[in-house]
This record gives sequence, structure tokens and C-alpha cells, in this order.
Amino acid sequence: MQGVFITGTGTNVGKTHIASALARALVQRDIRVIPKKPVESGCIRQGDELIPQDALILKQAADYPGELDDICPYRFEPPISPVRAATLANRIVTIEQLASACLQGSENGFILVEGAGGFYTPLAENGLNADLALALQLPVLLVSDDRLGSISQVLLNTEAIQNRGLHLIGVVLNDLDGQPREYMDNTADLRERLSCPVYSIPYTPGKEAKLPEELVDSVISHSPLDASQFRVVR
Ligand SMILES: Nc1ncnc2c1ncn2[C@@H]1O[C@H](COP(=O)(O)OP(=O)(O)O)[C@@H](O)[C@H]1O
Ligand SMILES: [Mg+2]
Repeated sequence: MQGVFITGTGTNVGKTHIASALARALVQRDIRVIPKKPVESGCIRQGDELIPQDALILKQAADYPGELDDICPYRFEPPISPVRAATLANRIVTIEQLASACLQGSENGFILVEGAGGFYTPLAENGLNADLALALQLPVLLVSDDRLGSISQVLLNTEAIQNRGLHLIGVVLNDLDGQPREYMDNTADLRERLSCPVYSIPYTPGKEAKLPEELVDSVISHSPLDASQFRVVR
């Protein structure tokens, strides 16, 4: 299976923002992208249906023609951790169920999985985001906000990813507010301390992120097989 697991140092750090830009960049390179957000809480109720907002953004960015259910089969309304939301709904979701949802259709394209919350956020009754990444054996892209305190957050997360034996493609430092940072340079400080690439993404309110070409190249080349097998013939 080919693909990438997008995780973060926490919630609201820009995972969907980066994942959707990555999906679009892969599509622009004629790669067929299969987005997956296997469990989403904080869904919006429309009549009888719960609409998963991240899954919707990923579907559009990936130009995915299939159903929202293929992307996000496990949906919950309260904006809380997926496991707690499942418990409140009297449901049990397991890592095996989430992994199998991610594998569905994976033979047809490049799987782009967005977890929920941070790398150690519980995702299912029996595991964390980390456990789903491990079950899928996908290389990981870590997204962090870029602020005071981010260095420690990133180093803790990169160590956790590597301790699980997962391949870390790189770290994306995402500017969430555009405030001038006169003295701070988290990108330089992390580059000194990490062997993987560190990418800095500027604040672009209301717009999709423009990812560096090297980041897209790196995601493609870390895939165990040749992603070009999923090229769309136009
Ligand atoms: N680089 C950025 N520039 C402008 N807005 C951003 C940027 N990154 C994220 N955002 C916004 O911040 C909010 C949280 O980002 P999101 O991608 O949803 O985080 P996560 O998926 O980690 O919860 C969203 O409203 C998103 O549009
Ligand atoms: Mg998200």
C-alpha cells in the first residue's frame, strides 16, 4: 500500500490545511489520491446525516469521485475526542475497523490519511493515532503550529514516531496567525536538532497552502513503491 499518514502535535495545528494542499499537489502530478479521515468528531448535523467537515475538504482537494462514507465511515457529533464521542453514542470503534476502512480502495490509489487530534490522541477503543499509523505501516508527516513552545512539542512527537519504528517524512511548521516573530526561529532551531526535513508554511488566511515542491517530492519518494503506478491517464 502506498500513501502517507498525516498527524499533528495536537488539534487545530493545520493537519487538514496541509493534507488538503498535499492532496491537490499530488492530483496536479496526476496521482490518484484516496483521502481517508476514518473517524471524525465534531460533525455537523444535516437532517439525519452527520457531515464530516475535514473529510469534505479532503474529498474536494483530492478530486475524489467516491462517497464521503468511503473517506469517513465513523462520524460523531460532539467536538470531543473520537473515543469519548463513540462512547457517548454507545458505539465501539477499534483500530482494526479504522485500518480496514483505510485499506478499502487502497489498491486503486495513493492513500492520504488524516488522523484526529495529535499522535497520541486516542483514536479507537484500543489505540491511539500512533497505533493506526503502525497498523497501516505508512510513512508519517508531522504538522505542528509554529509558536513559542513548539520545539519541545515537535521533538516529543518525532521521538514518539521514531520509537514506533515508523518512517518520519518530515515536519511541517505551520504559521497559524501571521504575527511577526522578531527573535524566534523554530525552523532553524529544529533543523539543528532533527535529521528529517523541516518545512515552514506561511499564514495564508482563506487560501489553500502552497507546499514546497521538495515536500511533495519527498512524500512521493517515501512511498514504498512507485507512486506513478497510480497516475491518471488523461
Ligand atoms: N497556514 C495557515 N494559514 C491560514 N490559516 C490556517 C493555516 N493553517 C491552518 N489554518 C486554519 O486554522 C484552522 C485549523 O486548521 P486545521 O487544518 O483544521 O487543523 P487540524 O486539522 O490540525 O485540526 C482552520 O480554520 C484552517 O483553515
Ligand atoms: Mg483536521
